[in-house]
Amino acid sequence: MEHIQIALDKAKEKYGGSIRPVSGPARPGESNGKGAEQAGRPAALANALPWLGLPVADLQLRHLVRNRIITADKSNPAYAAFDRLRTRILQEMRLQNWTTVAITSPTAGCGKSVVALNLAFSFGHQEECRTLAIDLDLAQTRMADLLGLEGAPPLADFLSGRQSIQETLVRHGPNLAFGVNGRPLSYTSELLQNASTRNVLTETRRELGPDIVIYDMPPLLCGDDTMAFLPNVDCVVLVAAAETSSFAEIDLCERELSEKSNLLGVVLNKCRYPQEMYGY
Ligand SMILES: Nc1ncnc2c1ncn2[C@@H]1O[C@H](COP(=O)(O)OP(=O)(O)O)[C@@H](O)[C@H]1O
Ligand SMILES: [Mg+2]
Repeated sequence: MEHIQIALDKAKEKYGGSIRPVSGPARPGESNGKGAEQAGRPAALANALPWLGLPVADLQLRHLVRNRIITADKSNPAYAAFDRLRTRILQEMRLQNWTTVAITSPTAGCGKSVVALNLAFSFGHQEECRTLAIDLDLAQTRMADLLGLEGAPPLADFLSGRQSIQETLVRHGPNLAFGVNGRPLSYTSELLQNASTRNVLTETRRELGPDIVIYDMPPLLCGDDTMAFLPNVDCVVLVAAAETSSFAEIDLCERELSEKSNLLGVVLNKCRYPQEMYGY
């Protein structure tokens, strides 16, 4: 609570004493929270209080690094690769006025969650890039495990509207928030296709006004979850694993994703190359 108070005080200092939550409806056609721009007040101010009011996550850098989340700080030079990826994604998304990106892969274990979280931290370092990462690989608790967030509630409670934003999401620093799943769920495809899921996620964006929302999805070829959820996202990144994902798998995914969404590109993860390539 102390952290929240400090954050709120900082926000008041920065924006003056006038910030307070705005809960009016978004303007028609604006789904990303920017519609809260009312009466000449910037949307950033309108969303600052709910965002800063999210409970602060107790993240341990050592746990993150042990789990290959290396962009939480800049001590591992490999962060540069994620920063380059971040900037390319950000440029395209800003150009197209897109807010939501799904991360998927052909099969499990390609490194989606690791890539999604590294990107999230990398986005979060960028000023004025409020980033929300949500784990929608609901049969697992991967994002919670990677972040070291124990005792998180099942995300089904949030997606079905039984649990509030403030009870579910957690914040790290001024720019980054997470929605993790604390219990492996079944009937995940049905849950992802529910109207309540769509409404909750839309309302969350409206209330918090993130600049980027990253959805960590299940693998595309191992069920229909990701395909079912694609209508809710602006664009997709495909993560393939070097030496594991076959050309046929990547090709099939590229075709399916391009048909149903905007495929931003393919990230080849788990490449082996010499250490000195990073060392400039
Ligand atoms: N670039 C990488 N190099 C080496 N191992 C990686 C890399 N990215 C991910 N991994 C490892 O691969 C495994 C699967 O990663 P994960 O992100 O959970 O995959 P997915 O979400 O696609 O199922 C984990 O053990 C993770 O540490
Ligand atoms: Mg995963």
